[in-house]
Amino acid sequence: MSEAREIQAPRGRLGVLMPGMGAVATTFIAGVELIKKGLAEPIGSLTQLGTIRLGKRTEDRVPKIKDFVPLGTLEDLVFGGWDAFPDDAYEAATVAGVLEKEHLGAVRDDLKTIEPFPAVFDPRYVAKLEATHVKDFSSLREAAELVREDIRSFKVRHGLDRAVMVSCASTESYLQPQEAHFSIEKFEEALDASDAAISPAMVYAYAAIMEDVPYANGAPSLAVDIPALTRLADERGVPVAGKDFKTGQTWMKTIVAPGLKARMLGLKGWYSTNILGNRDGEVLDDPESLKSKELSKLSVLDYILQPELYPELYGEVSHLVKINYYPPRGDAKEGWDNIDIFGWLGYPMQVKINFLARDSILAAPIVLDLALFIDLAHRASMSGIQEWLSFYFKSPMVLPELYPEHDLFIQLMKLKNTLRAIKGEDLITHLGLDYYE
Ligand SMILES: NC(=O)c1ccc[n+]([C@@H]2O[C@H](COP(=O)([O-])OP(=O)(O)OC[C@H]3O[C@@H](n4cnc5c(N)ncnc54)[C@H](O)[C@@H]3O)[C@@H](O)[C@H]2O)c1
Repeated sequence: MSEAREIQAPRGRLGVLMPGMGAVATTFIAGVELIKKGLAEPIGSLTQLGTIRLGKRTEDRVPKIKDFVPLGTLEDLVFGGWDAFPDDAYEAATVAGVLEKEHLGAVRDDLKTIEPFPAVFDPRYVAKLEATHVKDFSSLREAAELVREDIRSFKVRHGLDRAVMVSCASTESYLQPQEAHFSIEKFEEALDASDAAISPAMVYAYAAIMEDVPYANGAPSLAVDIPALTRLADERGVPVAGKDFKTGQTWMKTIVAPGLKARMLGLKGWYSTNILGNRDGEVLDDPESLKSKELSKLSVLDYILQPELYPELYGEVSHLVKINYYPPRGDAKEGWDNIDIFGWLGYPMQVKINFLARDSILAAPIVLDLALFIDLAHRASMSGIQEWLSFYFKSPMVLPELYPEHDLFIQLMKLKNTLRAIKGEDLITHLGLDYYE
């Protein structure tokens, strides 16, 4: 048994600050309010519904995760954030069109009180939006200071000791890591110089870390996943995680691909295409934002299948991912996967997946879990990259010398073993030979 970490109790309320208060953020907030009123169940949330086995299978110790580790409760959460449009959370949820009138009506008063701070916005990074609610600043350093002030004033207004930031902002243009990202000194010089290498997503992440606010990135934009900011987070004792919520097609991919590999079945090609019509889809209609998303979606197969170890099975895989903006669908996205596999003696077979999903319905419980888990990490004095939260991301952050784990079941085991470890419980290896001795 490992030694339990000291974990501060979750006293008082927890601020959940979201850059980007669009479909995902408002579906999350409305959902929490509905659940608090007893009008819905927290379906899809591991922190609320998940259990964790402790000790041996004969011990019958299977508490709920939320009863095992000291998490904030839904009643503790206070919501806020930033957006490039001034709509309050009710209006934004209405525009997003994810939830039905009946659901929104029941939490209208709660949502009406949540108004975003003006955004740190740069049209070079999100070309498709005509932003109307933006901060005035003379340098990116000043922009970061303004976000820091917003965090402080939010905490004072709501009497909070703790807050976390979960970015739900639009996908920014693809950005190559460059000199300004490699050290804290260079990053801060670039802030002073308003260097174009610093994106709004990075400004929010920097402000969060400087304010001792744990940060998770739900968008595929390059943000905290640069050496300057991971080092800053580590030095300042702030947990960070990212990036890009793993919700639909990629989530499915990280379930099916490990299954093919487990059976040593070969793969010739995987063609994935999507139609979606929400604002996220509209932003992704710009080729530079699309590139950030497509790269994030493409990375998973190589890491799971390890073609360098299995050249005869995975040496020549054609992997294509397409995302098409198709307004009639709104948030009800549809994904198709055609998977060309081969088996014994090389005989070909095909798997087809047609996923009629709802983007924000899949993402909302992930925002909740990330907010509660990253706050737990902070209270358990865990800092820097939180690899155990890989479960939630398409492009999980890891140290530069490590490769990311994409297999959903390895990620889940990593997450639960981390919870066992911080509580001083035995890790579960699934060995089980001792039962038969
Ligand atoms: N829904 C999913 O299943 C899912 C999965 C993975 C990742 N994501 C990512 O989550 C993010 C949010 O998705 P969504 O469907 O809610 O999109 P959305 O367009 O409904 O919401 C994004 C919001 O961000 C705001 N915004 C843009 N730039 C901003 C800035 N600089 N500062 C503050 N606000 C800004 C926009 O005005 C908008 O309201 C996107 O990046 C998306 O790619 C979503």
